[in-house]
Amino acid sequence: MKVSPSVMIIFGGTGNLTNSRLIPALYHLESANLLPKNFKVIGVARKEFTDKSYCDELLISLKKYSRSGVDEEVWKRFSEKVTYLRANFDDKDSLSDLSAILDNLEKEWSICFNRIFYLAVAPSFFPVVFDSLKRNKLNEGCAKDANPARIIIEKPFGRDLKTAKNLTTKLAGIFKEEQIYRIDHYLGKETVQNILTFRFGNEIFEPILNNKFVDHIQITMAEDVGVEGRGEFYEEAGVLRDVVQNHLLQVLALITMVEPEAFDAKSIRKEKYEALKAIRFIEPNEVDKFTVRGQYGPAKSKKGYREEDEVHKDSNTETFVALKTSIDNSTWKGVPIYLKAGKRLEKKVTSMTIQFKETGHRLFEKFSNKPEANLLTFQLQPDEGVAVRLVAKKPGFEKELQNVDMEFCYNSAFREPLPEAYERLLIDVMNGDQTLFPHIDEVEESWRFVDKILEGWSKQSKPQFPNYDSGSWGPKEADELIEADGHSWLAHQLSVCQIHFRN
Ligand SMILES: NC(=O)c1ccc[n+]([C@@H]2O[C@H](COP(=O)([O-])OP(=O)(O)OC[C@H]3O[C@@H](n4cnc5c(N)ncnc54)[C@H](OP(=O)(O)O)[C@@H]3O)[C@@H](O)[C@H]2O)c1
Repeated sequence: MKVSPSVMIIFGGTGNLTNSRLIPALYHLESANLLPKNFKVIGVARKEFTDKSYCDELLISLKKYSRSGVDEEVWKRFSEKVTYLRANFDDKDSLSDLSAILDNLEKEWSICFNRIFYLAVAPSFFPVVFDSLKRNKLNEGCAKDANPARIIIEKPFGRDLKTAKNLTTKLAGIFKEEQIYRIDHYLGKETVQNILTFRFGNEIFEPILNNKFVDHIQITMAEDVGVEGRGEFYEEAGVLRDVVQNHLLQVLALITMVEPEAFDAKSIRKEKYEALKAIRFIEPNEVDKFTVRGQYGPAKSKKGYREEDEVHKDSNTETFVALKTSIDNSTWKGVPIYLKAGKRLEKKVTSMTIQFKETGHRLFEKFSNKPEANLLTFQLQPDEGVAVRLVAKKPGFEKELQNVDMEFCYNSAFREPLPEAYERLLIDVMNGDQTLFPHIDEVEESWRFVDKILEGWSKQSKPQFPNYDSGSWGPKEADELIEADGHSWLAHQLSVCQIHFRN
């Protein structure tokens, strides 16, 4: 694959995101020879570093976070492409040196390269960074209009519809939509990208993905960890903003959208937006009925949320949510959709399961048990794969049925190790492909959905937190929400691709 010459300027070059995700992703791209010949990373932050001491720090983290260790040769090659620029965003002139650095590189390489600005800083810094970029004409790129600069913004984009719109207003006049890459790393996962391929590349699935055949859909994102030192961020976010607004609604849009006209950014983002618009809002006066929120308490020698660093001891921030909604269009009308996400749950699993209807089977009247519903599961974590649950006759003389799973697992089907989501997404930015980056219309529509719930919660009486133990599956009301419809949370029971065939 040919990747365009690029310089990635990481604002927040000393932070957690840079150390744990971005540098490991870029290192692996170097290792796979995917970085372009003309490539540089410029880390920008306040701490005092030389290029050499900055790289020494990055190497320490890389050893911790790399998915395949660190090869000395590759690191040497990669570290030669890394430099550091000390700057304080509180200082108005902090980025004035950057223009000169980029212009000099342009002369040295004699080419027009992509100028990519990655905002790995707290959202409170976004406005001042935008202003600085504009003041120094850094938004224009190397040759105005021919190759304008690109900006990468981490999710969540805003903290509600109003702040998302404010952010858009701030960006207006500085960066156009085609220059903005709103990153949601879940969309870089192979299984997520494969949802569309499975649906539209295999004739057997699409005809049955509708309300005639589908009983309901469940999407679960369960984490076994707590806030992991990010208490301050989490206090402001909560699980609804942190993962439902982006990861879960995006996955829901991919499984319910209609077939796009083409496999390109414009067509896919358009249909995802239409799908998001069709999701039924949970009105503020319905949150009692259709949502359950929770917060983990201490258990099994694990801290409760309120004992975490930088968390208020009376915090009412939710670390768990379960909700029920549906899709208001002719394809999906009447199919319940259950979403669930939480921290410090029993195990780490992110999956989406489509349960098909049971239509009654006369043939098996004399059997000791009846066929159970077929399931189609896309699992994103811990192992990426897709499974179809079928019914088979149990071997032997008895008339007995048994569920069997047909699985497609990435780690056994393909010999190459899976690229991390960030690796894929960073390459896409360098190549100017926005397919896996949500459009502002999608982001705003997702906030409309979430804002209604937040409004409803704000009118409820104070929640009785904590209301679930660390290491459990969340509050019992979440089970009751789905059991009231005769279902149960399938992610508790299903484990896709747990057998590792080869690596
Ligand atoms: N960490 C993750 O896994 C993760 C995941 C998804 C999204 N995000 C998002 O990514 C962003 C960064 O998160 P993070 O966890 O990496 O935060 P972090 O560890 O607190 O890093 C913040 C960075 O900002 C720099 N900084 C702070 N004040 C500055 C100033 N006045 N001038 C210049 N630089 C300044 C810090 O460097 P100095 O102290 O050296 O200046 C540091 O490099 C946030 O928006 C977060 O929501 C993070």
